[in-house]
Amino acid sequence: MVCYPVMRATFLAVTRNCWAVHSPFISTLLRHQRILVLRPSGARSAKTDRSYYITTPIFYVNASPHLGHLYSAVMADCFHRYKLLRGYKSKFATGTDEHGLKIQLAAEAAGKDPLTFCTDVSERFRHLFSSSNISFTDYIRTTEQRHHRAVKHFWSVLMNKGLIYKGSYEGWYSTQDESFLASSQVGDALDSSGKKIKVSLESGHELEWMREENYMFRLSMFRSPLLDWLRENPRAIQPDRFYQAVLQWLQDDLPDLSISRQRKRLQWGIPVPGDAEQTIYVWLDALVNYLTVAGYPDKHDQWWSVAHHIVGKDILKFHAIYWPCFLLGAGLPLPQTIHVHSHWTVGGKKMSKSVGNVVDPLECSRFFTTDGMRYFLLRQGVPDSDCDYTEDRAIKLLNAELADSLGGLLNRCTAPGLNPAQIYPSFCPESFPSQPGGRVKMEDYHMLDAVKHLPSVVEQHYKNMHVFKALEAIGTCVRQTNGFVQRHTPWKLDRRISKDQRWLDTIIHVSFECLRIYGTLLQPVVPEISDKLLSRLGVQPDERSWSHINFLPSYQGMDCPFEGRSLGFDSGVLFSRLEGQNVNQRTAKSKKLH
Ligand code: ME8
Ligand code: MG
Repeated sequence: MVCYPVMRATFLAVTRNCWAVHSPFISTLLRHQRILVLRPSGARSAKTDRSYYITTPIFYVNASPHLGHLYSAVMADCFHRYKLLRGYKSKFATGTDEHGLKIQLAAEAAGKDPLTFCTDVSERFRHLFSSSNISFTDYIRTTEQRHHRAVKHFWSVLMNKGLIYKGSYEGWYSTQDESFLASSQVGDALDSSGKKIKVSLESGHELEWMREENYMFRLSMFRSPLLDWLRENPRAIQPDRFYQAVLQWLQDDLPDLSISRQRKRLQWGIPVPGDAEQTIYVWLDALVNYLTVAGYPDKHDQWWSVAHHIVGKDILKFHAIYWPCFLLGAGLPLPQTIHVHSHWTVGGKKMSKSVGNVVDPLECSRFFTTDGMRYFLLRQGVPDSDCDYTEDRAIKLLNAELADSLGGLLNRCTAPGLNPAQIYPSFCPESFPSQPGGRVKMEDYHMLDAVKHLPSVVEQHYKNMHVFKALEAIGTCVRQTNGFVQRHTPWKLDRRISKDQRWLDTIIHVSFECLRIYGTLLQPVVPEISDKLLSRLGVQPDERSWSHINFLPSYQGMDCPFEGRSLGFDSGVLFSRLEGQNVNQRTAKSKKLH
């Protein structure tokens, strides 16, 4: 082990003298990093074996989950389900972050021992996710043994590489954010009693001056390798505005980072290996969860090389700076992508436990249904900018897109009046020739063209994390198909006339084919509604993957496996219209209860 003299390092004063003192070691290390940086996460065999690993942040258990947490989880769930549909092996991890001062204080305030407190709240998150159809494959808690082992191992690797030294830290600390701040990030404010306090300019949380001896990580050494990695991987942080923000931050020096607290101040955490007087900093502990789930330290290669993180913009610095630097230090590959999303706000303010303006997602789901909630979050939430939550907007959107447009289309085409035999009717090539003619209009060809290209459009949007654009594209096609049905007024056709009957069946066949594509593409977003839709069309579970899409084969003279099949069971409307009146009653009721 390389030993370093105990040295003083304030948060701002980077210990640059280390470069001189230990230059042979550091240049070896940087040579090593360079190799890593040049081939950070690119053409690895894991890519070809189609594995995928997606994570959400692990959430603090200091209070109950809210809509913002569910949003990150729904987003990750959507990508996980999408990858499964594409035939990938996918791992999806979420869980809870249970150590640190903030949790220690919350447990004390609740009068509970920390582990009991953590277990209670962690179960609330797990319950919310399970009841929202979040199909995580691993639910990690940082209080688990497997995680303690991973963190201690990770620490020892950094220590053995000479990247940790004992120093004395002095600076501003936000317990709410569990974050150290530079003086440029500190502002003045008054607390509720009118006392002058220091606050974080970014989060507004109160700061305390911290001065103690603890362990420091040589973050400063990694500024340049980190910049190299970012420049060589311009899609590593998405959307681009967050990538640019990180580059901007890196214009300044990176000070070394305090990565432990004195045990007498923080007991609720993982002890520093070999020093019972110190507790590991909660962010180092928390970030390693991604490795723990991947199987670190024993067998993490398969999953770790295909890792993608979803995070809110509030924790970008930790994921886009600290985490890659820790990983570079430990000689591990960097994540493939860090997908960043913006915040849900209420009345323009970030929805947050500490502000107290949270929306209870379980209560919303009871009213909007689980899929309604998922659809609204993914349709309305945009990664680039904050999104204000209002119940009214959710009701309007769900009624228009799920109840009227999609549900209406299915309802029309499966109604016994139009489809008395309750089958997937045949397509008649003479009724729908490949050149304009007969009853077929130019718009009908445009519609077919749009639906044919829809899967690749959606694929591109899913790839870029633009789920809202994927849903917008699907919604546009649904409207076009409704227009197609409306234009040809099939209810005016007479089944007793054979030409009419063939045309009528063709209209329904085309509409079913469109619905089958929409149902397939919507599975990652609204799994229950998609299942209901596809089951009603008689599409079997093993016919719902991406490779089964093959839109309207009969139009190209190929066999359609669905033609002539009986429809599935009619389990009622796809999505029941939400009545504003109910909302008012419900809101009044819940107000009374509070
Ligand atoms: O930061 N809108 O946990 P946390 C959208 N434990 N997303 C929101 C949101 C909002 N208003 N509020 C929270 C922590 N989120 C650490 C993470 S990871 C190794 C450790 C989501 O409970 C969003 O993903 O404060 C945000 O980044 C995360 O919850 C923060 O959750
Ligand atoms: Mg937070």
